Amino acid sequence: MKITVINGTEVRGCTYHIKKLFLEPLREGSEIIEFYLPKDLPHFCRGCKTCFFKSELLCPHADYVLPIWNAMLDSDLIVFATPVYALRATGQIKALLDHLCVHWMVHRPDERMFSKRAVILTNAIGVFNGGAQRDIATSLMWLGVSDIRRLGVGLMEGVFWDKLSGKRRDKIARKVKKLAKRYKTVPTAARRGLKVGLLFAFTKKMHQALVRGEETPSADNQYWLDKGWIKR
Ligand SMILES: Cc1cc2nc3c(=O)[nH]c(=O)nc-3n(C[C@H](O)[C@H](O)[C@H](O)COP(=O)(O)O)c2cc1C
Repeated sequence: MKITVINGTEVRGCTYHIKKLFLEPLREGSEIIEFYLPKDLPHFCRGCKTCFFKSELLCPHADYVLPIWNAMLDSDLIVFATPVYALRATGQIKALLDHLCVHWMVHRPDERMFSKRAVILTNAIGVFNGGAQRDIATSLMWLGVSDIRRLGVGLMEGVFWDKLSGKRRDKIARKVKKLAKRYKTVPTAARRGLKVGLLFAFTKKMHQALVRGEETPSADNQYWLDKGWIKR
């Protein structure tokens, strides 16, 4: 199995250890590529919109974004591991998600995303992991991923891994490894789910309607034409 991991922090702390525990049962026989943010994408989206109207290859940050996007496309399982900051995902995760908007279904989706599985691992000192998970899950859904699992850890005892009690760390390890083991039994390719199917049908109608009114198709609609998903 090919796994791409997006780490939402460079700190080798709780997020790092939780992610490491998750990968443990999957390491054997897997090819794993990891990205650490912000090191591997140290820029915010500038809002130039070049990706939407010309090409994502011309994005001023393409040298950083493309290796991450290509690794995601090439993998069976995409893992996001992030701490909760201000009840949401970290800013560096959001910066990556912003750069990937061009591949949302309203723009230029890649059908390879339809068979991916994804896992979102978050941790917080308290119990509120939902906001951070939603930030990522929303993007993954619009990118076309159907099978998305979320696991949120409430650390409760503190924010430093080596200061957590052995009992708490064991409890976290059990939960995380149980989820990881699922990916040893399910088929590597996921089936396209109802929500993603509906979004695709809806956006297809939208692109079809738009292209009829265009003298020269926009980059987005030309892409849909080239894919054979809509007609002129
Ligand atoms: C800037 C910052 C903001 C945080 N915001 C929250 C928060 O809103 N809610 C929460 O429960 N924990 C919050 N935390 C704790 C983190 O979610 C996380 O549990 C902690 O940083 C340990 O993970 P790490 O070792 O990977 O950094 C915050 C931590 C930092 C550094």
